[in-house]
Amino acid sequence: MSGRILIIGSLNMDMRIEVNTIPVVGETVLGNGLVYTPGGKGANQACAAGRIGEHAVMLGCIGNDGSGLALKKSLEHSGVVTDFLKISDTEATGTAVILVNGEGNNSIVVCTGANNECNVEYLKENDELFRKCDYIVLQMEIPIESVEYAAFRGRQLGKTVILNPAPAPDRIPESIYSKLDFITPNETELMKLTGKMDLSDENIRDGAGILLGQGVKNVIVTLGDRGCRWVSADEDVYIEAVKTNAVDTTAAGDCFNGAFAAGMAKGMNIRNALRFANTASSITVTRKGAQEAIPDLNEVNKVFYCPDGA
Ligand code: RIB
Repeated sequence: MSGRILIIGSLNMDMRIEVNTIPVVGETVLGNGLVYTPGGKGANQACAAGRIGEHAVMLGCIGNDGSGLALKKSLEHSGVVTDFLKISDTEATGTAVILVNGEGNNSIVVCTGANNECNVEYLKENDELFRKCDYIVLQMEIPIESVEYAAFRGRQLGKTVILNPAPAPDRIPESIYSKLDFITPNETELMKLTGKMDLSDENIRDGAGILLGQGVKNVIVTLGDRGCRWVSADEDVYIEAVKTNAVDTTAAGDCFNGAFAAGMAKGMNIRNALRFANTASSITVTRKGAQEAIPDLNEVNKVFYCPDGA
């Protein structure tokens, strides 16, 4: 069994710099090893789904420049269909400045550029892709109206809609929630969306409960090296992470989302798709960068262990 995944989101050229500590306001620090490397939450998620071997198509917008071309090629090498990407005549490709500290944690600033042109009109022009896919994967680096429209259209067509609310905005229009089969915040994003102020187990449950109350079917809270927690009307379970030594957590969440959609598209049940996604993202954090860190299916399968069979 195999499903088609439509990923709608951002493509950014990442400027990655290693620092000992991430500067605070007013501070200047010295960094090392500036690298330009393909990224963007949408493109990273597409890359994960494509490398895992599922039929992945990306909708998003790049500039008419070298960065845009490099991003397109990176997706094509990962098996993602890029024929429908929009090329802006006026805006440069999105850029992200990523500072990675000695513990592998990061701080990111995104200059959205051409991603702003991933608008509703463009999505409507590509309605056929909505009709042909089985899964729609969304994040928050494109205009919010586009996310809202894509979720609405996906639900209208009976597709499985997954929203990774990253980066978390101050608020998401409430009408989106009832269109979502899955929302996949990390702990910080869950707090921002629900106003919960600390990360106790109880607060995660309550925060997830708020989102369920607004109409989301399943809340998957990603917990870094602790794995993830799946909360729905019938479930409240932890899915443990695979232990690894992290050198760079950039794109770990993106890999998780792309691999989760791919696992589901392969016919796995939710629990096993979450185990599969944990495994894929545990490999990503052992390498530097975004797309270059994302594993392919062979690599994931070498580590993937499914106690009850996939
Ligand atoms: O999640 C990591 C990604 O966030 C980076 O690749 C960067 O482009 C930003 O979108």
